[in-house]
Amino acid sequence: MIPELSKPSVCMRDRQRVEEIIQSLRRAGPSTLQVISDFDMTLTRFAHNGKRCPTSHNILDNSNLISEDCKKNLKELLNTYYPIEIDSGRTVEEKLPHMVEWWTKAHDLLIQQKIRKDLLAQVVKDSDALLREGYKAFFDQLQERNVPLLIFSAGVGDVLEEVIRQNSVFHSNVRVFSNYMDFDDNGVLRAFKGQLIHTYNKREGALLNTGHFQELQDRHNVLLLGDSMGDLTMADGVHNMKSILKIGYLNDKVEERKESYLGSYDIVLEKDETMDVPNAVLSHIT
Ligand code: C5P
Ligand code: MG
Repeated sequence: MIPELSKPSVCMRDRQRVEEIIQSLRRAGPSTLQVISDFDMTLTRFAHNGKRCPTSHNILDNSNLISEDCKKNLKELLNTYYPIEIDSGRTVEEKLPHMVEWWTKAHDLLIQQKIRKDLLAQVVKDSDALLREGYKAFFDQLQERNVPLLIFSAGVGDVLEEVIRQNSVFHSNVRVFSNYMDFDDNGVLRAFKGQLIHTYNKREGALLNTGHFQELQDRHNVLLLGDSMGDLTMADGVHNMKSILKIGYLNDKVEERKESYLGSYDIVLEKDETMDVPNAVLSHIT
């Protein structure tokens, strides 16, 4: 049906069910569809030429806006909490307090650095941030078909917006839910706005943004893209959901996590740095 689904990186527990969902999305057409995607390590690459790529947080962490001392502290936080985030041996409930702690401590450190808003664009330009291969076709296709794209990220909104802007794909159909910086009158970071979004509370984030889903209430079908088990709840605010196709990037600890990903995502993409499969599915259904 879709040749890209035979790529070696593609794994599915139930191929027939996937085909049924795709058929029903295709029959309903683009006017009934909305796309909800995570940002870090879903729209951006996990690795390139054997080197890890930065998350939106890491773009700041590695930049010249941060003192050496603070970099060391942020690195320590990453080394402590990232293994917990991806640990398949702990439940989400067990992970929750650790995630809140990680994000709170990291945000506090960033605030201490008195980051200037006017320097963010240059920091993103100088960074190794990379969207996945095929990103342009993904964003352009959705814009052309008038399909709304919600980017739902536990990263830093100001930074990820700059990444998509600098890649010329911040089209008018794109909305972002994320952690946004709050700057004082001199353009210096003083806080983060609103309710904190971390990896495992996206459901609460979705339910808080009722207005967005209200606007899209006639779009009952969803294509969801994520890389974490927490991303599976990003569509919990959608009104009267009919069909949902969940595509999950399995980037890290592949063998350890494969079973649980196959149990939760309809299509699992193992160490696949491209948008080939989402693009092919979109071409087929819109
Ligand atoms: O966009 P997404 O929801 O994927 O963003 C969250 C990611 O950012 C997490 O997967 C986490 O590993 C990473 N992160 C980070 N530094 C922090 C907090 C989170 O790199 N201080
Ligand atoms: Mg992610």
